[in-house]
Amino acid sequence: MAFREYKIGCMMFGVALSTSMFVTIFLPGLDISAIGSTEEALKKQLTYGWESGFNYYDPFLAGKDKPIKVTLTHDPVTGKKIDKVDAYVFKPGTHFPNGLTHENIMGKKVLALSNSRGHINQASEENGGVFLVDVDAASGTPYVEFATATKGWSVDATLKAADQQFLAGSGKTMFIREGCWWCHTLLPEETQDWQTFGRPPVTGDFNGESPTTFGSDRKAPDLLHVGSRNSSREWMTMHFFNPRLVQPHSIMPRYNYLWGKTDAKGNVIDRQKWDREFMAYNNGETAYPPEVPEPAPDSDARKLIDFVLNLK
Ligand code: HEC
Repeated sequence: MAFREYKIGCMMFGVALSTSMFVTIFLPGLDISAIGSTEEALKKQLTYGWESGFNYYDPFLAGKDKPIKVTLTHDPVTGKKIDKVDAYVFKPGTHFPNGLTHENIMGKKVLALSNSRGHINQASEENGGVFLVDVDAASGTPYVEFATATKGWSVDATLKAADQQFLAGSGKTMFIREGCWWCHTLLPEETQDWQTFGRPPVTGDFNGESPTTFGSDRKAPDLLHVGSRNSSREWMTMHFFNPRLVQPHSIMPRYNYLWGKTDAKGNVIDRQKWDREFMAYNNGETAYPPEVPEPAPDSDARKLIDFVLNLK
């Protein structure tokens, strides 16, 4: 080997080494807490709870240890009518997301407001409680409110007063477990993408979210705002049971096994019979496709649909 190649090799090694040393030593020194959580990040944290991927409390990704998102139009304590609001219910023992209490993840300003006005320092995982996301009108800074301390909303009363309950936190675990991210992204890009898939996210949208489920590469539509384009629970139910029912040439797999054994009415789901009837419809032998069973309230299908419809 000529000496010149040796010198070039040494120089290239030097550049690579110093770049990696720079990244290792200086980048952690950046003040990431200067990037405060956006309202979006706080809502995601409170919807998804702590760590949606593989973790000690839910090793088989069953969707355990997750908060419940509810919509309220009546005050759980007084019963009086209020403006429609989303609340996030953590039953006692449910783990809080890291981004809720950690100064560097939440951002200093957001945490200061969440403590002074939102009283989140009174919240504990043992007792659980109800949270809201507010925005300070003057500064535009979002913050978390611990409604159990500020308004007296208990877990039980809030669940009872809720108009709707979304198991979107458990649903995100389903999204990860089922590998939806092999085909779908949750990351519209700063290109013409936004015309079809909506607003691209900004840096502070991801504070404390783990994992971010950006997706691996895109073989199918971006889903970050899919609930805004299509809010039909019926369509989602049909599409997950068999995508070919609503999109004849779809390459998306069927997720009908997420329904479990029985439907919402307790009837046993006969998938083979369903498939036979669907084939008959496909071949033009019958006028209508078979009905899709309604998912049971505690089924994985219901959780996944709640997650998807919440992607606004
Ligand atoms: C093999 C790739 C693939 C996988 C895996 C997959 N999808 Fe899809 N998905 C598609 C394709 C292609 C479309 C567009 C055609 C259609 O609507 O079926 C689609 C469409 C959708 C839509 C409608 C999008 C819109 O813009 O209206 C939703 C919602 C959706 N998928 C959710 C999911 C979820 C949740 C999972 C995981 C349980 C999943 N998909 C897994 C390929 C996939």
